[in-house]
Order: sequence, then structure tokens, then C-alpha cells
Amino acid sequence: MSKLNILIAASEVVPFAKSGGLADVVGALPKALKDLGHDVRVVMPRYYGIDIETYGLKLLEGELGVPMGSMGEVWSAVYEGVIPNSDVPIYFIEHHGFFGRKGLYDEDGQGYGDNDNRFIFLSKAVMQLAKKLHFKPDVIHANDWHTAPIPILLNSTYANDPDFKNTGTLLSIHNLQHQGKFHKGAMDVLGVGWEHFNMHELEEFGGVNLLKGGIVHADAINAVSKKYAQEIRTSEFGWGLEWTINNHAHKLYGILNGVDYEEWSPAIDPFISKTYDTGKLAGKQVCKKELQEAFNLPIRKDVPLIGLVGRLAEQKGITLLAAAIWNLMEMDIQIVLLGTGEKWAEHFFADVATKYPEKFGCYIGYKNDLAHQIEAGSDMFLMPSLFEPCGLNQIYSLRYGTVPIVRATGGLDDTIENYDKESNSGTGFKFYDATPEALTGTVKWAVDIWNSEKNEFVKIRRRAMKQRFDWAEAAQGYEDVYRHIVAGRLSSTHQ
Ligand code: ADP
Ligand code: GLC
Repeated sequence: MSKLNILIAASEVVPFAKSGGLADVVGALPKALKDLGHDVRVVMPRYYGIDIETYGLKLLEGELGVPMGSMGEVWSAVYEGVIPNSDVPIYFIEHHGFFGRKGLYDEDGQGYGDNDNRFIFLSKAVMQLAKKLHFKPDVIHANDWHTAPIPILLNSTYANDPDFKNTGTLLSIHNLQHQGKFHKGAMDVLGVGWEHFNMHELEEFGGVNLLKGGIVHADAINAVSKKYAQEIRTSEFGWGLEWTINNHAHKLYGILNGVDYEEWSPAIDPFISKTYDTGKLAGKQVCKKELQEAFNLPIRKDVPLIGLVGRLAEQKGITLLAAAIWNLMEMDIQIVLLGTGEKWAEHFFADVATKYPEKFGCYIGYKNDLAHQIEAGSDMFLMPSLFEPCGLNQIYSLRYGTVPIVRATGGLDDTIENYDKESNSGTGFKFYDATPEALTGTVKWAVDIWNSEKNEFVKIRRRAMKQRFDWAEAAQGYEDVYRHIVAGRLSSTHQ
């Protein structure tokens, strides 16, 4: 099969900048696509937290001119590097005014007021960079609202550009809640012409919705699990875009994310105090002990330790957890939580830790090594999400033998099989209703099995640890969609 030229654009990529799973995905997928033999390149902003020396970045010769509509032409420098442990080139769009800041999207809880200009700039820079590099992509793969302008630009500003004659687009939706909604003035910066400002393309309630425009104009869209691809067609999960998505359902896919097992495996994890694997679980006990120590909890083998890692955002079910916490604290369990996000939640959970120092440990902040240590040292992992496009932590948990307790939504439902003693199956515990009672009841169920049916718990853990969600498989899914896009483009140009 012929090699494809693939350009992937995203606002965050591991290890350079990360706020969530999007960065994990864009850090890993390109490597898997490269392994399939494709020419893959990645583009992201050069936030000032990305150190040029650390990553050995090289300045590309010549500046990049980016036409920014009413703002005129904006000049950018471009750095080039590689994604670590690979030879996938990654390009960093440098602009002091737009990206020379502390945060990716916000600072001290306040979203930047010019996020429309910042990410329209990134999207346009991707197009201009492809031209500068003489790289003719078969597919540009955009991710979330930040790079959703790319499909719109390709169908308008660049529609007759010979450099993009054979280029198609895929837009991955990692989270439909965030759509890039701005004042209609953003149309002037996007510069694609006001004829695109209508309810079938970019307009929504008098403003601009970048993700909506991307969904309409992309050749294909991917929601990051099969279940989520179904859910976003309903009013419960569509965040107002269900109508648009249903109109474009013929081009909607649900390729599940993979996991980078070089990064997330207890057998080789450099962040945990003792490695372990199926069949030799002694190391997991050591990790549990160290985790209890790290959170100043009583060192007890005989108490189930439940871990939580994630953004403290409503999506993650923090309101459910907050409502359930006092009942959970009645039980003989320990909980450790690592997260950052909404201020009320940060204060609330820190307060629970003060009230229950023997049961609840809490670290408010972002700490990668601690995330690994929680995966390794916990007995169970809790994800009570209200919605979850894919979710990565529960998949990491499977590999670490940390049995997931999840709400059956989106990728959580697709990746975790509910425990069933009768059929001797299941890799975790699931609940369906988004209620504190369902959450508490399911934690109690898991804890009961842990306490009184040890053999059953061991079997669940063994099945969990055997699961694999390799990127190689997901990348093959993407390749199929890319080829479909290319074939579609070719047939439409020959009509
Ligand atoms: P989302 O992308 O919605 O945040 P995912 O489960 O897909 O959720 O991915 C979250 C990623 O971010 C995981 O790799 C997780 O370990 C990491 N993460 C989230 N919060 C923190 C934190 N406070 N400290 C360290 N890592 C975190
Ligand atoms: C989003 C979703 C999460 C998903 C991640 C990567 O941030 O909230 O469920 O795993 O993107 O696709």
C-alpha cells in the first residue's frame, strides 16, 4: 500500500505540553503511524514552557508569514524537533504575543481573552508551514476546536491552492464540551468570507463556533470511542451540536485511543518504587505502602486503597464524588486524589483530607510521577465521569492491575467489562446512574469483593492486566479512515 503524507495539528503534545489526554494521544499516535510506514509530521505551538535546549529544537530558516485577516500578516518563527524516542518531526509555531505565556489556554483559572486569535493563528500557521516545507499532505488531522479551523480553511481560502489539491481532513473530537465559541468578530480574523457565517457552518446564536465549522467542513470526524460517537448524536451529550453531528453522521467514526505501554506499564515504569507484572505482584504491595506513606495515611495492607487522578472538572463526576464522599468516609477504605481544576473542588477535597487524615489523601496540582505512583499503588481506580469521550486513566489502571470502578459512559463503557461472577468475567465495576447512591453502592460492591472474596478480586485483576489497547491497532483504524478520505477526495475531483 502506498505511503501517506499525514500532518497532525494539535494544541498539546506529550512530553512538550499537556493538560489532558489529548496530549497523550498526539504524542503517541504519530509514532504508531510512522511504524506503519507513513510520513507523519506534527505541528503545535511553542509555549514558553517548552525549552529549546532540553529538546534540542532547531530554528527553521526564514520566517513564516501568516495572513490573519483584519490583523494583517503576522510573522512567526518555527522550531523543529522530534517526538522523543522516534524520528517523527514536530514543528513548533513560535509567536511571543500569542504563545509566550505561562498557560496553554488559561492562567489562574481565567481563559485568555484572545484564544480565538491564538488558535486561528495556529491553524493558519499549519497551512502556511506545509507550503513552506513543500510537504503535500494527503490528510491533515486536526484535533478539537483549537485546530478545527483547518478543514474550514482548506475548503475556502486554500480551496484552489495547488499545494492542497489532494489534501483531505480528519477532525478528531476529544471533547465536545469545548467548542471554541467566540464573538462573530473572529470571522474577520479567520478571513474565510462572511458567506460561511450561517447556521449550517460557523454561526451559532449570533457568534462563531469553530468546532461546528470544523465538523461541517472536515471530510471525516472521529469521536475517540464507539460509544461516544453514538452519544454525541443525542441531546444529553451533544452540547447543542447533536443536530449538526447527526447531519454529518455518515462521516463519523469512533476509533478508540490506544495506550503508550512504554510510558504506562508497571513492568518498566521508572516513576514507581518497585516494578511488577502479572504473576509477580509483590512490587505492587511495595508501591501501595509507599503511596500510603506519601499521603501520610496509615500503612495498612488490609484496607482497600482507591485512587483518583484527573482534571477537577464537572465532566469527571466531581459533584457526584463530593456528594458521596461523607458516606464513603464511613467505610473502612482509603482514597487518594490527585487533581487540579475548579477552585471549589480543590478547596472541598483539601478540606475532606483535613477532616479525615486517616482515610483521605489529596494532592492539588499537576504531577506526572505521582499519577504513575497512584496507578501502581492503588487497589482500585475510581472514574465517576458524567461523560468521558475515551478516558485513559482507566486503561492505564487495567495494565497496573488497579481495578477500575467507572460510570458506564463513553470510552469508560467501551473499555471496562463489568464484573460478573456467574460467567467468570469482567475487568472492573460499573455503575449506570449518575447519582451519588450509585457511586457509593458500586464502591461498596467492589470493596466487599476485595474484603471477602479475595480470589474473585485476584481473577478480576488478572483479566484486567491481560487487556491491551495498543496504538498499533488504533493507528490501523486511522489509516483506514485516512485512505477512505483520500479515495473520497479523488472521486470527487474526477466527477
Ligand atoms: P482528560 O483528557 O479528559 O483530562 P484522560 O483520562 O483522557 O482525561 O487523560 C488524562 C491524562 O492527564 C492522563 O494521562 C492523566 O494521568 C493525566 N492527568 C490528569 N490530571 C493530572 C494531574 N493532576 N497530575 C498528573 N497527571 C494528570
Ligand atoms: C479528552 C477526553 C478524554 C479523552 C482524551 C483523549 O480530553 O476528555 O476522555 O481520553 O480527550 O482523547
